[in-house]
Amino acid sequence: MCGIVGYIGYSLAVPTVLNCLTALEYRGYDSAGIAYLDGGKLEIVKRVGKLENLSNYLKNKIIPSSCAIGHTRWATHGEPSMENAHPHTDKNKLVAVVHNGIIENYVDLKKALEKKGISFYSETDTEVFAKLFSENLFAKNPELNEYYAKYYAMHNTMHNTYKISKKRIIKALKHTISMCEGAFAVAIVIKGYEDTIFFAKHKSPLILGKCRDAFMLASDIPALLGYADKFYTVGDDELGYIEPEKATVFDLTLKPKKVKFKSVSIEPEQVMLGKFHHFMEKEIAEGADSVLNTLNRLEKTKALEKIPAQIFEGDFNLHITACGTALNAGLIAKYIIENQLRIPVDLDYASEFRYKKPLLSNKSICLFISQSGETADTISCAELAKSMGATLIAMTNVPATRLESICDYLIPTSAGPEIAVASTKAYLAQLSALYDFIVYVAKIRGNALEFDIDSVKNGVIKNNSVNYKLDLTELANLIKDYSSIYFIGRGLDYFLAVESALKLKEVSYIHCEALPAGELKHGSLALIKQDSIVIALLTQSELIEKMLNNIHEINSRGAKIILFSPFVELKQFVYKFISIPKVDDLLAPFSIIKPLQILAYETAIAKKLDPDKPRNLAKSVTVE
Ligand code: F6R
Repeated sequence: MCGIVGYIGYSLAVPTVLNCLTALEYRGYDSAGIAYLDGGKLEIVKRVGKLENLSNYLKNKIIPSSCAIGHTRWATHGEPSMENAHPHTDKNKLVAVVHNGIIENYVDLKKALEKKGISFYSETDTEVFAKLFSENLFAKNPELNEYYAKYYAMHNTMHNTYKISKKRIIKALKHTISMCEGAFAVAIVIKGYEDTIFFAKHKSPLILGKCRDAFMLASDIPALLGYADKFYTVGDDELGYIEPEKATVFDLTLKPKKVKFKSVSIEPEQVMLGKFHHFMEKEIAEGADSVLNTLNRLEKTKALEKIPAQIFEGDFNLHITACGTALNAGLIAKYIIENQLRIPVDLDYASEFRYKKPLLSNKSICLFISQSGETADTISCAELAKSMGATLIAMTNVPATRLESICDYLIPTSAGPEIAVASTKAYLAQLSALYDFIVYVAKIRGNALEFDIDSVKNGVIKNNSVNYKLDLTELANLIKDYSSIYFIGRGLDYFLAVESALKLKEVSYIHCEALPAGELKHGSLALIKQDSIVIALLTQSELIEKMLNNIHEINSRGAKIILFSPFVELKQFVYKFISIPKVDDLLAPFSIIKPLQILAYETAIAKKLDPDKPRNLAKSVTVE
């Protein structure tokens, strides 16, 4: 949800920032913009729409700047427009700000600034930040602001003698962030400071990167891969500045911090397309690896064993909270935990849990699942659960996230960077970590399970060898012009239908609805007519007969049923049959999801849509 980048060094800053923004486009693509300092001038270039509009505009321009900040936007305040696009600036265009997050009290701050005679050109909270910062910078002698502006207008460069000191800038920045509520990470360039980018962070993510001849900053590590080789995760309420050869970080009392830049184990290839056309295609293909890597890492690091066994020994209430695909992984976990461990599980959408007055106590164990570890809804639930004395476990894929820092324990997934907005390989990684968690709890409680981790691994390897492409391209062409598609399943298959429907709708823009197959006759069957498309999932052996009844009900209304199943004998009853490998019933989620993810991808392609950047969506949803 908005990505920011900054480069200060000895090379060309603008192409570097543009390149890094490409890796951050998953966070938003409503508009993109860059601010750079060049020969004393502060220039701002913005374009509405995808980053390529900005890149095309800048393509043949050589800009000899070595200090730039950039932004890719997911609109929160105000429509995608030139006015609302970042970077934003103050009245005399002395500062430019890019921002990721949301300043919740911006309306009050704006009103206070308006009372002082300051006007606004956009609807954004970021412009409020820029103007507030500038006001704080010149609070003691506002005439200096006007003087600078006039001097600049006459000489086209800044006045060096009366340059504002860095100390004063940092004080003003500290004052500004302490006036703002919400979550934000900002990067700022200031006229006259061609060798410095200022930054501050409160709750939104911010990384500093150390390069051979530069320092950089960005919303995540993958954006800086190929440039920086060491990283520092900026802590909450830290602020400071980067220069070509050093990074200076302060805490909120303005005490300098000792920062340690560390290497990470992400290779640049992991965030490159390679032989693939889209990240979604690549990430679906990486599904099996993400399961195997997750399970191997959990085994090696003994991450599960770090959660004390005694919390699972007596009585406890287990709550799973998440959003979207992560919640859908939780649905499978709830089913298996209740089925195998006989422990009741409460499962909630994070956006609902927060406001339902949840029943939590020090006997509650809350598991928060989040690929990004940044999702605002999930984070606010974790904060609430913490305040109520619960034990908190985070399951995240991105390292060193805010969710991880709030929780008591971490179950890391190892899907690697997931760039496409629609989550695919991370879902599989979450499933595998959840199954491993179940095995861990079963061992503590002495439950016998109907699966083990080796069979998860074997199932995934078996499934990976199947090539679905041909069948699914044909199927995508069949369904692409439909306005509505129904997904049905029973038991575990229903939860997989929910995830498959979400995937198809978000990248193809076809309305998709998942239903428990037995529920059709209680209302929704009224919508099924001649030629309707119904995608049926059937992996659970003991539900074959019941599901077959539902298939007949649908057939008799003339609908076209597409069945994904290992039971080939059912082929005769349906319009199209997609055969998947047979694995143990409880392991079916690992075998059936891949072809359904491919179907979503192929449908987007058949409709000539960009599967990596579905409209209106962003990967990290950092607003509630
Ligand atoms: C769907 C999708 C979203 C995310 C959801 C939670 O394909 O990607 O539904 O799963 O926004 O995000 P995380 O897991 O980062 O908390």
